[in-house]
Amino acid sequence: MKSTRGGILVLDFGGQYAHLIVRRVRELEVPCQLVPFSVPTSYVRESEARGLIFSGGPSSVYVKGAPKPSPDVLSLGLPILGICYGHQLIAHLFGGVVKPATKSEYGESTLKVRAGSSLLQRVPARSRIWASHGDQVTKMPKGFQVTATSDNSLFAAIEDRRRRVFGLQFHPEVTQTEYGTDILAAFVYDVCGCRKTWRLEDFVGSEIEAVRKAVGPERVLCAVSGGVDSSTLALMVSKAVGENLACLFVDHGLLRKGESEEVLHTLRDLLGLKVVRIEASKRFLAALKGVTGPEEKRLIVGAEFARVFEDFNREEGPFQWLAQGTLYPDVIESASTAGPASRIKAHHNVAGLPKGIPFKLLEPLRELYKDEVRKVAAQLGMPREFVVRHPFPGPGLAVRIVGEVTPQKLGVCREASAIFEDELRSAGLYEKLWQAFAIVGDDKVVGVAGDLRREGYVVTLKAVTSEDGMTADWVRLPFDLLDAVSRKVTNRLPEVSLVTYAVTNKPPSTIEPQ
Ligand code: XMP
Repeated sequence: MKSTRGGILVLDFGGQYAHLIVRRVRELEVPCQLVPFSVPTSYVRESEARGLIFSGGPSSVYVKGAPKPSPDVLSLGLPILGICYGHQLIAHLFGGVVKPATKSEYGESTLKVRAGSSLLQRVPARSRIWASHGDQVTKMPKGFQVTATSDNSLFAAIEDRRRRVFGLQFHPEVTQTEYGTDILAAFVYDVCGCRKTWRLEDFVGSEIEAVRKAVGPERVLCAVSGGVDSSTLALMVSKAVGENLACLFVDHGLLRKGESEEVLHTLRDLLGLKVVRIEASKRFLAALKGVTGPEEKRLIVGAEFARVFEDFNREEGPFQWLAQGTLYPDVIESASTAGPASRIKAHHNVAGLPKGIPFKLLEPLRELYKDEVRKVAAQLGMPREFVVRHPFPGPGLAVRIVGEVTPQKLGVCREASAIFEDELRSAGLYEKLWQAFAIVGDDKVVGVAGDLRREGYVVTLKAVTSEDGMTADWVRLPFDLLDAVSRKVTNRLPEVSLVTYAVTNKPPSTIEPQ
């Protein structure tokens, strides 16, 4: 709660951009936290927030059971900014009318600003906005005035200046809205009076202190994967508890080429962490033998990890704590009360660990986003190559191999990914991407080598950009680069007959194929 003092609470009505609002506010160096829409008034009061933002959401305010904030929240007198569903909610709660629109608005539109709004003071008369809604405000609540219209909405921006309540039918948090950041800045600085008090260094310092206090003289086990999250976590916990931390690097046989050596070198030699390497590829691959279902594979890997920890705990323990690199999106997704957010995958550091493991959990990164973790990593002295490494999922190559994980498919996936990554690095593109890797499944196609027919695997290359992994766009890589990768893959891996490139965004795809 300390992290929201003097800042903003975003009430989550289930909109896909709720997290983005929090990130944008934090980019303005203002403390910000996402909370369920039903957050109790007592929490809002204790958080010492200076303003509230109501997020977008998939519901309609006029249907029975539509998510609404607790009525007392409105009477706190804090400034409120409603976005999309939040905008309609404000109109509805203050006595206006919301109806289905005759034409839903989806995508870009032009905002036409009328003079006199404190929220839109830095927005020119006409600018580009991005909107996505099927309902619209048709009658304004008393005391409100229209401050901007758009192509499809007569009430694109409304406000009650006296009560400091604002509604925007469009999304200021997305980059497609030209002056979105200026609008959010006007709300947090000018309307709410927030100051720039959100500093990562302070946050990290206080988290390290909190870990030290919670753990006391007890011992902590931390699984490190070589990813930036777990390495940052290990560094923070090591600063807090020193010798009482043991880092465990489990080689489950599903790692990328050369990864094991590289990770150990960085963590041990450059960062000075005490790391024990457990060679466990045999037991993981045995547990995965014959298994084809994606969720089954994930759960098996999670369960096997837990068993390795328990064995280590028996032999080298006892450890009372397990440190996990859970990030903010994981926390909110599993805790959201805003509608039935369906579970897409069992991410192994959150849902895959079996219940009843004998450790207390330490999760000092749970309030941070990935880009913030990267900043912390750099601050703590992690080498740059390590900080900019692409995220790699806990279940490793098991989720990039469609169907059963066999030694042959593992070899293909590992080698093809290494070739792809090398080419991207040489072209100076690696750091511009969120992730890039190869996928292999069971499909085989006919090819020709010399004069001989040869049936071989299909390798699919995938490269995406993303802000936080929650949505992703495929990257228009140069054809020459794809050509070079394809040639190298089929030359070095005679068991591959076809290389393809994935051109589907998330959604509807997910980033990992399994
Ligand atoms: P998806 O495939 O769900 O992935 O679009 C979103 C981001 O999460 C990563 N990912 C994982 N990370 N354990 C992790 O630590 C997992 O089980 C896991 N599954 C997916 C994925 O690489 C992408 O960056």
